[in-house]
Amino acid sequence: MSEADRPEDATVVREVNAVRRFCMAARRAWLIARTHILWRSRLHALGAGSVLGRCLQVNNPRAVAIGSRVTIMDEFILADLRPLQGDAPKIMLADGCTVMYRFQCNAARLVAIGRNVLIASNVLITDSDHVVEPGGVPVTKSRSLVTRPVRVEDNCWLGQNVVVLKGVTIGHDSIIGANSVVTRDVPPCSVAVGNPARAIKHTGGRLTDASLPIDEVAAKMPLTSATHFGL
Ligand SMILES: CC(C)(COP(=O)(O)OP(=O)(O)OC[C@H]1O[C@@H](n2cnc3c(N)ncnc32)[C@H](O)[C@@H]1OP(=O)(O)O)[C@@H](O)C(=O)NCCC(=O)NCCS
Repeated sequence: MSEADRPEDATVVREVNAVRRFCMAARRAWLIARTHILWRSRLHALGAGSVLGRCLQVNNPRAVAIGSRVTIMDEFILADLRPLQGDAPKIMLADGCTVMYRFQCNAARLVAIGRNVLIASNVLITDSDHVVEPGGVPVTKSRSLVTRPVRVEDNCWLGQNVVVLKGVTIGHDSIIGANSVVTRDVPPCSVAVGNPARAIKHTGGRLTDASLPIDEVAAKMPLTSATHFGL
């Protein structure tokens, strides 16, 4: 019998894991409470169980609607590019979305993100472009924007550093590869990559390393994502 197989070792591991789970749940509960204290009355909507990290800028919270069980990690920017045009929500994240660090969303009209969308770090989604007029008002002073709404449908995964530009709809169940720039619509259930992003195949296959037995994959990932991200 190896050391790890001894019943007393297994008990210690179970107890340590129980304490870890308790600490994680307590920390998550605190973050949910803090989020609601700081944001509930200021945002257009904030669903139950959502956690917002530290923001760099949210210039018009009334233009932001966030569903239930949404997590947005630190250093996010949610910018309403036309904050004087009423309080209708322009930036919407539906239930179950997870957004990693340094997310930037610029909306003059609408950026609508569907349910259970996973957004990796450093992603920019914008529904607008500035207008540069030679000989006219300098771009730094101009308020002219070209704006078209953006939609990311349910259950999509946007990889690291993805940029989604104005007017784009990303169909449900799609993957956008790391560093891609999405300039045109992506059909549902597509894997799209590159600049400009093009659909290269359908989603549906598992991305888990199929050459490894599942317990070896698990052994390589001993920490849950919740532990890793401090939530
Ligand atoms: C899009 C992605 C999921 C595709 O993975 P995959 O299905 O295993 O795809 P493959 O590696 O078989 O690549 C297929 C083709 O697309 C190309 N490709 C894959 N990802 C690409 C990317 N991000 N940009 C440009 N081309 C890419 C490959 O070079 C390959 O081209 P080829 O057929 O000419 O050789 C993966 O490449 C990716 O970008 N993952 C994002 C990871 C990430 O951002 N993680 C953040 C943590 S949430």
